[in-house]
Amino acid sequence: MISSRQPLRLAILEAERMLSAAGVDSPRVDAELLAAHVLGVERGRLPLIPLVDPPVIEALHKLVRRRALREPLQHITGWSAMGAISVSVGPGVFVPRPETELLFEWALSVLPDAPPVIIDLCTGSGVLALSLANARPDARVYAVERSSSALSWARRNADERRAAGDTPISLLSGDACDPTLLSDLDGSVDLVVCNPPYVPEGTDVQPEVGVHDPHEAVFSGADGLDVIRCVVSAAARWLRPGGYVGIEHDDTHGSSVPSLLAARRVLTDVQGHKDLAGRPRFATARKA
Ligand SMILES: C[S@@+](CC[C@H](N)C(=O)[O-])C[C@H]1O[C@@H](n2cnc3c(N)ncnc32)[C@H](O)[C@@H]1O
Repeated sequence: MISSRQPLRLAILEAERMLSAAGVDSPRVDAELLAAHVLGVERGRLPLIPLVDPPVIEALHKLVRRRALREPLQHITGWSAMGAISVSVGPGVFVPRPETELLFEWALSVLPDAPPVIIDLCTGSGVLALSLANARPDARVYAVERSSSALSWARRNADERRAAGDTPISLLSGDACDPTLLSDLDGSVDLVVCNPPYVPEGTDVQPEVGVHDPHEAVFSGADGLDVIRCVVSAAARWLRPGGYVGIEHDDTHGSSVPSLLAARRVLTDVQGHKDLAGRPRFATARKA
């Protein structure tokens, strides 16, 4: 009997070719992640599946066509990971990026042993707040977001993490530029983290970003620093002496964000941090 099953390896190669022709940045990785999504397995297990049925090939082609139109991979699979958790994402919320994992790791490294108080400003899907709450169940974590559509994704993710047994976070609708935001926490916070919108208005961006990420999640004024200026002020007010702030920024902000932090007399130990490609990615400081 002739089998109609086909080699998965060839289907992935064809998907990679289509994605590469469409200008997708990492065609091989995306082709494999889509195949893993269709098969319901982890990407690392794909080599264990030599042959697949025609409906699997068809389903993969459908998803590859969406990705080739530059729909974000995470909108197609429905999730994005950070630390030990993943969060649900889709239209209306910023897709968490792998670079932010560096800010998350730094944040864990500066938390005190005693139960910490943490604020995640511009929380989007809630990914930083929820991954910190997962890694530090003793922490009191506040997450602030201005967009109502992002907030509903964050709420859904917070509910899912609570159901999975994580310590609940406090999710707030608020503006990072409101000088009265969470003023009852002034002088008592151990860590402020923020991955804000930071791209200068008018910058050319990839279709995944320009079409699918919410505008207010990406752009922030002519120099990209509008929200970051507010975050620096808020952190200076909230932190306890010895507390830390970490802010992700554009790779063109390698000196401007450290300068904004250094301009606050109450902040000290200002440091710039690079990503794995050597580009300036986030800046940190400590309250004197
Ligand atoms: C780059 S996204 C980051 C989301 C999330 N922290 C992450 O790493 O995936 C920035 C988020 O900040 C929110 N935002 C923009 N301006 C804000 C403001 N003034 N106050 C609070 N949130 C704001 C956007 O709606 C968006 O969800």
